[in-house]
Amino acid sequence: MVFPEYRPRRLRRNETFRALIRETSLSPSQLIYPLFVMPGKNKREEISSMPGVFRLSVDQLKKEAEECLQLGVHSVILFGLPEKKDAVGSGAHAKDGIIQRAIKELKNKAPEMMVTTDVCLCEYTDHGHCGCLIGDTVDNDATLEILAKTALSHAQAGADMVAPSDMMDGRVAEIRAALDENNFEMIPIMSYAVKYASAFYGPFRDAANCAPQFGDRRSYQMDPANSREALREATLDVEEGADILMVKPAVAYLDIISRLKDEFDLPIAAYHVSGEYAMIKAAAEKGWIDGEKVMAETLLSIKRAGADIILTYFAKDMARYLRAVTK
Ligand code: PBG
Repeated sequence: MVFPEYRPRRLRRNETFRALIRETSLSPSQLIYPLFVMPGKNKREEISSMPGVFRLSVDQLKKEAEECLQLGVHSVILFGLPEKKDAVGSGAHAKDGIIQRAIKELKNKAPEMMVTTDVCLCEYTDHGHCGCLIGDTVDNDATLEILAKTALSHAQAGADMVAPSDMMDGRVAEIRAALDENNFEMIPIMSYAVKYASAFYGPFRDAANCAPQFGDRRSYQMDPANSREALREATLDVEEGADILMVKPAVAYLDIISRLKDEFDLPIAAYHVSGEYAMIKAAAEKGWIDGEKVMAETLLSIKRAGADIILTYFAKDMARYLRAVTK
């Protein structure tokens, strides 16, 4: 059937029809809100390149978590700014490290909040790379042990899920084994399975003070030109025991999200990263776009491409927006 018998506009005539046939929807329960935790007391520092996002001291987490829960956002992912950095990222697995304290605080003061941790060394190494070094290269196999120790320390502090973002080969298996040996077989791994060497991480590196001090991350993060390699990376993580596969960044990689969704039956997550957030905020501040509408359209597109879960600095804003439009 073609025009004039068939008219697609019939089903767009009013909001009731449009809502009836809408294929994709978003709910705050599918969003994960990233939190940056810093040392000190009573600290709430806005990140200049990420308006509306703050570095918080541990004592501020309860309030933040309660606000999220009240909005229907039940899941956060933690990033830490340690007191001290060293060559091997010891702060990442310190018993009283910043993340370990943050997890305990959240699990004590806001127990309904689901706490995921980012497992990586770049925030804890003085050179800013995601693993320990031999000369100028990141030592894959030596890093695995430190990552497993880090993930285990997060689980011991009470984390509900761990999310390795380092891009070392073999880390999912190593982390799975360490968790299982210590009776944490019920703690899932959300792996940053397909993480590209992206310029969109710029504002995050300011926020977490973790830019590499020399070179870049292209010897471990993926080449933006590659998509078949993404399937291989994801396959490895599935075989090693990942429970959720993540693609990062999101908007420039919607094709990758879509391919992973078709090829794998695990839940797919997408990280709408700092630079993607900053661009929308900046254009909106200038009055060049409607920031709220662009946010909603962007997150919807990520979902439509195939993401089941979205990690986003817009989580609270999106929850508020959804509440307003469904009223
Ligand atoms: C740690 C990590 C990074 C991000 C998440 N985990 C930085 C990086 O890889 O350079 C970026 C998140 C964002 O940009 O919002 N490796």
